[in-house]
Amino acid sequence: MINPRVRSLQKSSTLKITALTKKLKKEGKDVVNFAAGEPDFDTPSFAKDAAKKAIDNGFTKYIPSAGMPELREAIAHKLNSENKIPCGPNNIIVTSGAKYALFAAIFALLKEKDEVLLPAPYWVSYPEMVKLAGATRKVINCKKENNFKLQKEELKKALTKKTKLLILNYPSNPSGITYSAQELKEFYEIIKGKNVFVLSDEIYEKLVYDELEHTSFASLAGAYKTTVTVNGFSKSFSMTGWRLGYLVADEEIIAQASKIIDHTTSCASSISQAAGLAALQHGKGWGEKIRREFQYRRDILWEGLNASKGLVPIRSQGTFYMFCDISKTGLSSFDFASGLLEKQLVSVIPGDAFGAEGFVRFSFATSKEQIHKGIERIRNFLKDL
Ligand SMILES: Cc1ncc(COP(=O)(O)O)c(C=O)c1O
Repeated sequence: MINPRVRSLQKSSTLKITALTKKLKKEGKDVVNFAAGEPDFDTPSFAKDAAKKAIDNGFTKYIPSAGMPELREAIAHKLNSENKIPCGPNNIIVTSGAKYALFAAIFALLKEKDEVLLPAPYWVSYPEMVKLAGATRKVINCKKENNFKLQKEELKKALTKKTKLLILNYPSNPSGITYSAQELKEFYEIIKGKNVFVLSDEIYEKLVYDELEHTSFASLAGAYKTTVTVNGFSKSFSMTGWRLGYLVADEEIIAQASKIIDHTTSCASSISQAAGLAALQHGKGWGEKIRREFQYRRDILWEGLNASKGLVPIRSQGTFYMFCDISKTGLSSFDFASGLLEKQLVSVIPGDAFGAEGFVRFSFATSKEQIHKGIERIRNFLKDL
């Protein structure tokens, strides 16, 4: 009696390793955690205080399904001024995490057998959501010699008459790379006029390094109507547990996606939305502080891995992840990750989960002391192979 689409879903292996890491830690094991998918900073106090106030003031009931009007206003303001996305509050739906925004967008846009282009390595949940919607995913295997960046020729070649959606995620989880405005424009030129939508997951937009600038796909001239942008509060404000995200799109898409919210979650938590509003109002300085800290840690991790025999890391341009080629060790990415956890108590995520065998993902959402300790243990692991 189980729906075959549900049966075919993969268990999230990133969550599996994260859970195992947490369990070992709870048992008192001194695990160095390079597997975390969330910032290690506490949620800023201005967000927490706003949530406490919301509770005390009785802001604890259902609110409009598309979101708290003041929050939608604030998001629209942010998107216009920072991202140059020409939208209003009516183009926004606030969701229970960015994950649910992706889910609602995918279900609103796709019908059975529609083709979805998915550049690999990809974030683990995209293929599963596409599967659940009954659509067909077409993976574009981006090349490691291009640091896993999608090339315009690859996009051109993958496009067919059935293509309905291209999923882009930049800065990328897991590769840590991002795209310039020029590269995005070239992608748009290829799909323009072909009735292909872009689902642009920009959840790591605030974490870009080395003076790089983030460009939103929907800000490209002419691209707005065929782009659904997803963003949220989890990564930029260390609010993963608050489950707060949003999607931005043309009003017709919003009208349809709203019905999905109406009949599933009703609305994202009112308390979290009050916290999110405060985060947008007061969070600029805080955000810049954590961005700098992450960049500093990125440098330490990259130097450490790059100087370790057998490892070839990609220098991340954004996110808090670093993707690392481990193929010279002769181990599969799963054997590398499980061996490292068993023998040296260091957890990383195997790349096969992201469609990139031969790689593992390191997260630098941990302290510099932990990064140094982890690198030393990894070298011991490599020595003993
Ligand atoms: C690329 C990407 N998109 C979306 C999400 C989901 O974010 P949220 O916690 O807001 O649902 C994540 C979380 O790991 C992510 O890495």
